[in-house]
Amino acid sequence: MPSYVRAGSLPHKRHIQFRRPDGGLFAEELFSTKGFESIYSLLYHVNPPTATLDVRPWQRPAIVFSDNDPLRNRHFKTRALAPSGLDAIESRLPLLGNAELLISVAQADVAMPYFYRNTGGDELLFIHHGSGVLETQFGELAYRDHDYLVVPTGTTYRVLPSSPTRMLVHESSGMVKIPRKYRNEFGQLEEHAPYYERDFRVPVLKTPVDAQGEYEIRVTSGKRHATYVVQNHPCDVVGWDGYCYPYAFNVEEFMPVTGKLHQPPPAHATFEAPGAAFCAFVPRLFDYHPLAVPVPYNHSSVDCDEVLYYVSGNFMSRRGVEEGSITLHAAGAPHGPQPGAVESSLGKTSTDELAVMVDTFGPLLVAQAALDCEDPAYYRSWIQTPAPA
Ligand SMILES: [Fe+2]
Repeated sequence: MPSYVRAGSLPHKRHIQFRRPDGGLFAEELFSTKGFESIYSLLYHVNPPTATLDVRPWQRPAIVFSDNDPLRNRHFKTRALAPSGLDAIESRLPLLGNAELLISVAQADVAMPYFYRNTGGDELLFIHHGSGVLETQFGELAYRDHDYLVVPTGTTYRVLPSSPTRMLVHESSGMVKIPRKYRNEFGQLEEHAPYYERDFRVPVLKTPVDAQGEYEIRVTSGKRHATYVVQNHPCDVVGWDGYCYPYAFNVEEFMPVTGKLHQPPPAHATFEAPGAAFCAFVPRLFDYHPLAVPVPYNHSSVDCDEVLYYVSGNFMSRRGVEEGSITLHAAGAPHGPQPGAVESSLGKTSTDELAVMVDTFGPLLVAQAALDCEDPAYYRSWIQTPAPA
């Protein structure tokens, strides 16, 4: 997130001697992106983060994908997928993916006894429901229902749920950013943006854990995985500053743009990542032209796959969907309100629906867990029932 943040104790210059109360040196760490040429932070550890005792294999099950072939619109009822008793990482069930994005659901019922680090790209976690803490070397980020957690690549973290936490997980191959169109030449959010800097929550730095032992960090980068055993507790930071850190944004803080006529998804954009654009559809007033049609028009997004995750409310334009449903509207496959939805929407003034979306510009593959919860008749749900004779 391109805003400067500082926390805890820092030396007055970077890259100079910074001493602990016992006279020893704190260990400075540069946490940088795109080599040394994009956003970065500087962290000061009580003990060096480099002390690695062991590196072991971490066996993760290979994801079995199939093409969306024959190409069609799909519906997956992910609520039926109920991994229980697992942590935030072990419970991840990949559903859809391509070279740039992997989409999973996860159910964190218990705290992770180990740390986790994804060095293959940023993660974007959407908390459908649940509460707890994302513990990181930058501090603790408390989360709640409908939070997005943006986790930069390389962040070492644990999810510590205080209540069972259902989440939608996006693993990007690159950086998850605030859309450029919302920022001025200095990086500040512009007046027309649907959110403001103060809507973003940053980690609260806690007392550093000055402890040595054997701490497990499970590391993943695409298809490569490892378990590191490190000597020093990862959360031993006394201070950090910079532009790169995890943060939270609750979609209820998203101030939707409404119009005289229907606003397309880019009006609801939240984040962007390589090959992916994220949107949030939050409770809002409908369009105010006297002849406005509140539900979306039929459309074919001919060069992207649209993934909509239904969170809560009455999904007026979609028949058969439920909380936790995912619809995949495939590139070039026309879709829109189902029969009768346009007529029944006329005159409505507002919607209480909450849904989050990601469009991908590379075709999405379908994983086994999605097939396990698929509504196979979805692509026929626009068929018009003949009027009785
Ligand atoms: Fe669509």
